[in-house]
Parts: sequence; structure tokens; C-alpha cells
Amino acid sequence: MTTGPTRNPSDLSNGEREKRMWEKLQNGEAIETVDEMSDEYYDNLTNLMLQQADSELADAFGYVPWIMNAPTTEEKLAVANIVKDEVRHARAMYRLLTDIGVDAESHVAKHNYTLRVGLKADDKRVNIFYYTIDTWADFIVFQFCMDRGAGHQLEDVRRSSYGPWRREIERIFKEETMHVSHGDFWVRKLAFDHSTRAKVQEALDTWYPRTMNIFGKPKTRHNTLYRKFGLKSRDNDEVRRGFADEVRFRCSECGLRLPDWKPDWEKMEEDGVVSS
Ligand SMILES: [Fe+2]
Ligand SMILES: [Fe+2]
Repeated sequence: MTTGPTRNPSDLSNGEREKRMWEKLQNGEAIETVDEMSDEYYDNLTNLMLQQADSELADAFGYVPWIMNAPTTEEKLAVANIVKDEVRHARAMYRLLTDIGVDAESHVAKHNYTLRVGLKADDKRVNIFYYTIDTWADFIVFQFCMDRGAGHQLEDVRRSSYGPWRREIERIFKEETMHVSHGDFWVRKLAFDHSTRAKVQEALDTWYPRTMNIFGKPKTRHNTLYRKFGLKSRDNDEVRRGFADEVRFRCSECGLRLPDWKPDWEKMEEDGVVSS
């Protein structure tokens, strides 16, 4: 780990912690402390939680200009509240990481979460958070696609073997559901208005394939490990199909065309990332 996690000093060897861990996992109990995690479980857990935390923060910063650019004062307030939610999600995740010995504040201080172009930042956000949101239709369709995609991924966290994360995710999940509803309301509004229909279709053509790519490749080594440890419960492709089915239904409701998506397995990241 580059962020320098320091476990609570304990006399327990990796073997002893691993034994405790499997006893709990096999009894269907949640893991609650670092003393119940093998080194491998710890590394996989911190990797997944950092991906979510960094994605939440990069997401919040990507939305900030839309406080100023939203079409009405009511919408400026709505976007400001969404930004507040995303920063809160990031803060909650970094706090969980701090609780298990990750120096989250140093990690955040080292990275530039406002960076949008060039895909060069070395934080752990999923790639979709590097693209700029250029229009109001983009902002809305980003919510319609990415918040919905994140929701599908967070479903697995609700069943995660790590208790503190599983409990924290419930509140995050409720707020993400509201973001999706905001996106749905506006997609319908833009789709049923002849003056904005083409714009929303264009935004969908852009953001739907990008969101389909966040879920990662099917049957990856990482996903197999995450499932073994109870940190995920489904294959990447199964999560993606659930998302695609829902978007197809929503699009058919308001007469939008579901864009084509052809997987580029070569370029795609191995595993998707929870959150937005
Ligand atoms: Fe969100
Ligand atoms: Fe979020």
C-alpha cells in the first residue's frame, strides 16, 4: 500500500488473524476489526474502499461548476446539496479507512482530484471521473447513468463481509437513490421537450458506453478474490447486465434510443469501482 496503512499493533500473526477471519466468514458473521483480517483481506478491502473514497471526492469536484451553471436557483441548490452529499460520502469512506490504519489525509493531500484530462492522476478513482461534464444534459445524464451504475455496485457492499462498511453504505445508498431520481426526473423532462430531446440523446450516447465500462471485465482474478472474501457477491458482468436492463427500461419509457455498447476488453480496467 502506498498510503502506509499501519495496523493496530497486535501480537497476532497473519496466520492467527486468518484463522479468526475464516471462522467468522464461515459462520456468516461480519469482520469488524483489523485483528480479524488476514493481510490479503486487508489489502483487498483497503483497495476497494480507497477506490470508492477517491471516486466520491473526484465526483464532487466534477459537479462543482454545475452549482453555478444550473438553469434555475432551485437547481443550483439541488446541485449544491448533491456536491455536499458526495463530499460527505468521501469523508465517511476516508474515516473508515483511517479507522483501520490508512493515512487517508496524507493520501488525499498527495492527489489532485480536480484533474480531468489526460487520465494521468494516480489516485484510485474510476476512469469515468476524468471526463468533463460540459452541458446541463451531460450533468443530468451522468446522474442517470453513473449514479445508477454506482447504485448497482453498492448493492454488493450492502452484503459485504466488512461490518463497518456495510453499515455506512446504507446512508450513502439512500442519498445515491435520490441522485438517481433527480437524474430520472430531468431526463424525462429533457426527453419530452422537442427543443432538448436531441441533446439528451447525444449525452446518453456519450455517457452510457462510458458507464458500461466501469463494471470491469467478466470473471477477473480480482473479482474472484473479492467474492472469496465476501467483499463482493456478484461477477462484474452480472452487475453490468442489471444496470443495462434498468437503463433500457427507462429509455423505452421516454422514447430514447439505448446506445450501442461494444466491450473493448483490452482497454477495460480489470475491475469496476463502487460509487459516484
Ligand atoms: Fe451520487
Ligand atoms: Fe456518492
